[in-house]
Order: sequence, then structure tokens, then C-alpha cells
Amino acid sequence: MKELFPIFKNNSDLVFLDSAASAQKPAIVIESMNKVMTNYYSNIHRGLYKQSQQTTEAYEEARAKVASFINANENEVVFTRGATESINLVVSSWGRANLKKDDEVIISIFEHHANIVPWQILEKELGIKIKVIPLKNKFTPNEDIELDFEAFKSMITPKTKFLSLTRMSNALGTIVDIEKFIAEAKKHNITVLIDACQSIVHEKTNVKELNCDFLVFSGHKLYGPSGIGVLYGKEEILNSMPPYQTGGDMIEKVSLKTGTTFHKSPARFEAGTPAIVEAIGLGTAIDFVNSLNREEVFYKEKELANRIKEIEGIDIIGTNSETIVSFTANWGAPDDIATLLANQNIAVRAGHHCAMPLMEELGVSGTVRISLGIYNDEKDIEKIEEAIKKCFNILS
Ligand SMILES: Cc1ncc(COP(=O)(O)O)c(C=O)c1O
Repeated sequence: MKELFPIFKNNSDLVFLDSAASAQKPAIVIESMNKVMTNYYSNIHRGLYKQSQQTTEAYEEARAKVASFINANENEVVFTRGATESINLVVSSWGRANLKKDDEVIISIFEHHANIVPWQILEKELGIKIKVIPLKNKFTPNEDIELDFEAFKSMITPKTKFLSLTRMSNALGTIVDIEKFIAEAKKHNITVLIDACQSIVHEKTNVKELNCDFLVFSGHKLYGPSGIGVLYGKEEILNSMPPYQTGGDMIEKVSLKTGTTFHKSPARFEAGTPAIVEAIGLGTAIDFVNSLNREEVFYKEKELANRIKEIEGIDIIGTNSETIVSFTANWGAPDDIATLLANQNIAVRAGHHCAMPLMEELGVSGTVRISLGIYNDEKDIEKIEEAIKKCFNILS
């Protein structure tokens, strides 16, 4: 697989184990973006000339690819800058329109800051309450970790209006059984957002089967470009929401006498000139992912992760993770280990992974996170095994 990714041609020794932060790009994604810019690039939706129409077609085709990838309708797919903007859009638009003082929003202890802080802003502004699904058991290294579903059930009250939950912890790789959480939320008429930022690349996602109201992800973790993300929302919900930003194609009519009217979704939430080339690149990344045997790829990534978990002398944080291995070591700080690995041309991530509340709960300042992508192979695993042994010899 490495041969499909030009970065490895130009960095032949690179062992890239940081795909959860951002994945590398296959040549076809890079070429498709180049093709737009070198052949017909223009602004979309407005021009009557051939190049503008061609670019508009390619942009809308990318939307259709995203829609079919997650089993949504095209009007339910809004292009954003990334998962962070998608969540901010929902909190800001849906939240301000539908929540009032003392209403409750439930998140989990696994959430990325992008799914915590926007809610905290609303807590300050409107006086809503944030409730947090805790871990099921007291944390012990080298054991499984999961969210406490019974605690979630017991925290629901008539004031609970929203559940905003990740499918996969970006810090640990733990998978959340979201089907169970969504079904329970729906019994109580709670609106649900799923953060699929980490999971979307590893598994098939079907928003209709999930029956979530919103789902968000970023292009750059799916072998696509940065600067582009997706907000899926049920059409009737999106069309009931006020605009998030204004200007450009989201406007139907502006009058200084009678005021302004707005288009329906998706244009309603795509103010200004969008990330045109990036959206088209994301469409190609989806073609790329669709061309893979996804079960086989996932199985291989899981096998490689299991091998990493067997490395001696490290404490695995959440042994039930699948494509990410997060660990600490009593002989070295995460930053020191990651720096020594970087010196050996091995890219991993160290720190809190934008999940400080989770780190606080686990009682660690940070972890070393190894995250796998489609290009990783047995050789990479041998290299990281050797490199961790070296770190141990230097630091202990
Ligand atoms: C679970 C999760 N949610 C949200 C985000 C934010 O994504 P982005 O930075 O692409 O907006 C990330 C990024 O690491 C993530 O892993």
C-alpha cells in the first residue's frame, strides 16, 4: 500500500504511526486536486461559463459521493472546514435555537475538546447543564476501558435534550457501542450527534441505520485533504436551524427594505466561497476508500495493533482498543519517548491528545499514541518494537 502514497517515496525510512492525527494522502487524491486547479478551476454555483459549471459539477459530485458513503441524502451533507467546525455549527445554531436554562446536554469522558468546549460556551451563555458519561470501572492499566451505559441511563431526565458522543476515542482508540446509546436516547426523544472523526476511516457508517440526527467527520483523517469536513444532519432538522454564518450562496434574497431570506440545506450552511478543491479531493478519497476491501484492511490494522500491545515494558491504556494503541511507561515520560522515536524517524503522538478531561480521569499527564493506517505493515511494527526497546535502554 505504501507505493500508493508519494510521501513514502520521498521519505523512504519514515514509519508513520500518527494517522489518528491526520492520514497521509494517496497519489490519486493529490492528482485529482491538481487536475481541478490545472484544468478548469473556477468559483462554483455562479458562473455561466464552462469552467465554472465543470467545477460546480465536480463539487456537487463530491457531495453525492459523501452522501452515498454514509447512506444520507445529498441535501443532508453540509461541507464544513472539519469536524470541529461541524460541531460548532450544531452547538451554535441548533443549540441556541433549541436549548434554554437548565436543559441538559450529555457528553462522555472520551470526548475530544472539540466536543466539549463548544458546549461549555453554551453552558456559560444559556445556563444549560453538561452531564458526562463516566468510565464503567475504576481505571487500571492493561485492562479494558468502557463507558458506563447504566450511568448514562440513570442521568437522563425530562430536561435532557441532546447527546453528543464519539464513536471512537481519539486518545485511546476505544470503540463506543453507539447503537445502544442512540437507541436509549431516542426512547427519550433526545437529539443525537455522533462524532465519527476517528471511526469513519475504519468502518462502514450508515446514518440511516444508526438513526442519529447529526454525524460529523473531517476529510484529512480519511486520506483526503485538510480544510474540508462534513456535517450530516437529518434534512428536516437542518432546515429548521438558523444559519451559522451568512453571505454568499446561502442567501436566497437580500433586500434592504424587506430583509434577507436563506436557502435550505446544504447551501444554507455553506456561506462564502467553500473549500472547493478540498471537497473534490475528499470525493476522490472516498473513491479510494471504497476501492479497498474495508473488512480486510481493518482486520490487518487490528492485528498490527495487537502486536504492538504485546511489546514488553509498556502499560496499555485500554486494552480493548482496535486501531490505536495508547500507552505509558514507568521508565519514561511520553514526550521523551516520542522524541526518541522521532529521532529514529518514527512518527507517533505524545500528550493529552486534545482530551484533557480523560487524561485527568485516568490520572496521567499524557500517553504515547500509536495509530495505524492502511499503509502500515509488519516492518513498521518490527521497527517500533526495536525502537521502544532502545528507548527503554536509554531512559531507564
Ligand atoms: C474524535 C475527534 N473529534 C474531533 C476532532 C477534531 O477534528 P478536526 O481537527 O479535523 O476538526 C478530532 C481530531 O483529532 C477527533 O479525533
